This record gives sequence, C-alpha cells and structure tokens, in this order.
Amino acid sequence: MVTLQSKWRYLVMLLAVQLVVMALLSREGNQRRVSYFFRIFRKTEHTASPPHGHNGTSGGDVYANLSAPARSAAREDLPYCPRKSPLIGGPIRVTFPSGLTLSGVERKNPLVTRGGRYRPPDCEAKHRTAIIIPHRNREHHLKFFLYHVHPFLQRQQLDYGIYIIHQAGNYTFNRAKLMNVGFREAMREEDWDCLFFHDVDLIPEDDRNSYTCETVPKHAAIAMDKFGYKLPYKMYFGGVSALTPLQYLRMNGFPNNYWGWGGEDDDIGIRVSLGGMSISRPSVNIGRYKMIKHKLDTGNERNPERFNMLAKTRQTWKLDGMNSLDYELISREYRQLYTNITVNIGTEEGLHPTPKSAAPADARIPTSSSTKKEKQANAAGKKTPDH
Ligand SMILES: *[C@@H]1O[C@H](CO)[C@@H](O)[C@H](O)[C@H]1NC(C)=O
Ligand SMILES: *[C@@H]1O[C@H](CO)[C@@H](O)[C@H](O)[C@H]1NC(C)=O
Ligand SMILES: *[C@@H]1O[C@H](CO)[C@@H](O)[C@H](O)[C@H]1NC(C)=O
Ligand SMILES: *[C@@H]1O[C@H](CO)[C@@H](O)[C@H](O)[C@H]1NC(C)=O
Repeated sequence: MVTLQSKWRYLVMLLAVQLVVMALLSREGNQRRVSYFFRIFRKTEHTASPPHGHNGTSGGDVYANLSAPARSAAREDLPYCPRKSPLIGGPIRVTFPSGLTLSGVERKNPLVTRGGRYRPPDCEAKHRTAIIIPHRNREHHLKFFLYHVHPFLQRQQLDYGIYIIHQAGNYTFNRAKLMNVGFREAMREEDWDCLFFHDVDLIPEDDRNSYTCETVPKHAAIAMDKFGYKLPYKMYFGGVSALTPLQYLRMNGFPNNYWGWGGEDDDIGIRVSLGGMSISRPSVNIGRYKMIKHKLDTGNERNPERFNMLAKTRQTWKLDGMNSLDYELISREYRQLYTNITVNIGTEEGLHPTPKSAAPADARIPTSSSTKKEKQANAAGKKTPDH
C-alpha cells in the first residue's frame, strides 16, 4: 500500500513539473518548442502527412516518376498527350543541393536536347512553350533554376525551350528590353504558342501551375515566399508572366526604356489593360514561387525615373515597344540545357552612343544619327533621365 501511494505521488510530481516547464515555455512565446513537445506523443500520426504540403521541406520530389522510357520508334505515330498530365503531383519540394553543377543537371535530364529543348518521348505535346530569361552574372541562380525547371516542365508534358537572354557589357541592366529581344529571337526559331517571361531567381513550387497560355495575359508568380505568399498589390505583374505571341504584340511588347531595377513590371501591367486585355492568374495555392535570395546586383540599381515614366505609359506604349526595338545580336550558343543569346542592347543614349553623349544629358541635342525610338520618345515628352 505504502509503495503504491509513493509511486502515485512520484507520478503526480513529475506531471506537475512538466506542466510548469510547458507553461514557462509557452509564456516565452516558444510555441514551436511546445508543439514539438506534443508532437513527440503523436509521432506516428504526424509523419503520415505534412500539415499543408507547401513548406520548403514538404512536397514531392520534382524528379519523381520522370525516368526515361524507351524512345518510341516513329514520332508521327505518337498519340497526343492527355489533357491532364499523369505526372502532375501538386506541391514540389524546392531544395538547393550543394555541389550542384551544370553537368550534374544534364545527367538528371537525359531527354533534354541541345539548346535546352524537350518534347515528351511518349506522346505529342499539346502545348509549345518558350521560357525567356533575362540574364547577367547570375550563373549561380541559373544552375538551381535549371535543376528545378527542366523536370517541372517535363512533368507537364510540354514541348518547350529555354532561352537565356544575356545582356552584354556592364551598362545598367534592362530586364524588359531583354524580354523583347527574347520574344523576337525565340519566335524566329520556332512557332511557339506561349512565351513565359521568367526571372531567373523564381522557382515554381507546385506543378499544377501550368506553363501554358490563357485567353488573356497571365501573371503566374502571384504568391512568392518573399511577399508572404500573397499578391503584394492588385496590379502587380512582376516575376513570371505568360503571353501568346498575339497578346504580346497587341500591347506592343514590353517597354524598352526602363534601365535599372523597378517600374517596368508595373508598366507592363498597365500595357495589358491599355491593349484592351485583362489579367488572368492561377489560384494562390498554386501560383507559388520560392525566390533565391540575393542582394540588388551592381549594374541593376534602382531606377530613379520609374515613377515619372509610369505616369506616362498611356502616352508612350504605342511608340515604345516591339515596334521600336533595336539591338545587336552578338552570339547564339546552343548549350545542352539552354540557348544563350547574347545581345548588345545599347544604353539610354541609343545603340551606338558616341563619346559626345557622355556630356550632361540636358546639353544633348537630338542629331540625325539618333534612332527613331529616341525621336518618338522625345516627341512623346519623355524626360531624358540624367545621371
Ligand atoms: C508551413 O506552411 C503553412 C501554410 O502553408 C504555414 O502556416 C506554416 O507556418 C509554415 N511553417 C513553416 C515552419 O514555415
Ligand atoms: C510516382 O512514383 C511513386 C513512387 O515513387 C508512385 O507511388 C506513384 O504511383 C507514381 N505516380 C505515377 C503517376 O506514376
Ligand atoms: C565590365 O566590368 C568588369 C569588372 O567590373 C571588367 O573586367 C570588364 O572589362 C568590363 N567590361 C566592359 C565591356 O566594360
Ligand atoms: C552567354 O554567352 C556569352 C558570350 O559568349 C558569355 O559571356 C556568357 O557567359 C554566356 N552565359 C551563359 C549563362 O552561358
């Protein structure tokens, strides 16, 4: 009797100590530690299914079920791919394997052919999508991007190609103009029916996020980890967007005159509506992206003119865009995982600035050598950015 009583007392004391410890922990706001404590008791239950399936560590392996089937004999006899790919699984785990190399990515993607092209081996794709990526000095991001995006697109059974548009030289980066170049160069190669304009540091986290076009321009990157997986504001059109060639030309492409960081994506959003179109979006639990962290690159400083320029989009969009695009193709390299298109897109002063144009901007007089675009821009009242 006595021993049983002392055992009970011991147990009660132990429980009391535990309660006090837990109360202290939760008072300190250490909910996570407390829930960890509880989880120990529910271990089997917990491992069965992750709570939301959307955190970086949950979700499926993007390479799962992509093993190469034997290539069928004749492509002409292939049936069309099904409306919904059987490989689609939902949330995808985004990881950054250490020691990853481009040749490692190549080995994991044996069916990707020269120039970063792919067609499903066992069916005829219903959609042909080009991915356009403006790029400079981001090789580290590019590697992780390719590691995830190749299998991601293969899961969707797309006929696709990846184009890197590399801005030559050290002059201020111009994302939107590089997109225009990418549009022209990709369409020159292939009759793509959809173009994805894609930042290199954004990785899709759900393979239900379909890389195909809609009847109106699509903004795909609506839920980024950086913005707490919410749309930062209603007109936001940055990161990843998708347009058919007709939609792209209907809004005269993207603006050519946004040099440096910021503004151009809002300009593009305004162009969509000036072109008489609306914006479509996937749902927030599908249009999810993880951003590879980085600092603002040198050569891509904030564009101080961006707000002035945005206010004038209504006047400038018909004059500045695909119809005024000028650039010089420097090289086109067909790498195994992507096509590298290197271009000179010039500067604010034009494609071939004369040494004279280094003078203060106010003193600059349009000369006969200035491009059509500059004249139009001046006529439209564009303030020449001074720096
Ligand atoms: C996991 O994601 C859910 C929402 O999907 C969120 O509520 C939760 O805080 C996330 N957990 C961590 C550890 O990020
Ligand atoms: C994908 O692979 C998993 C095992 O890794 C299997 O359980 C699942 O059925 C496969 N799905 C398809 C569509 O083949
Ligand atoms: C660009 O900058 C790098 C170093 O900052 C320099 O080595 C290179 O020569 C520059 N290139 C041009 C075309 O000015
Ligand atoms: C693209 O080509 C240019 C010119 O050859 C080269 O300088 C650049 O490093 C290449 N970029 C990539 C990502 O391959």
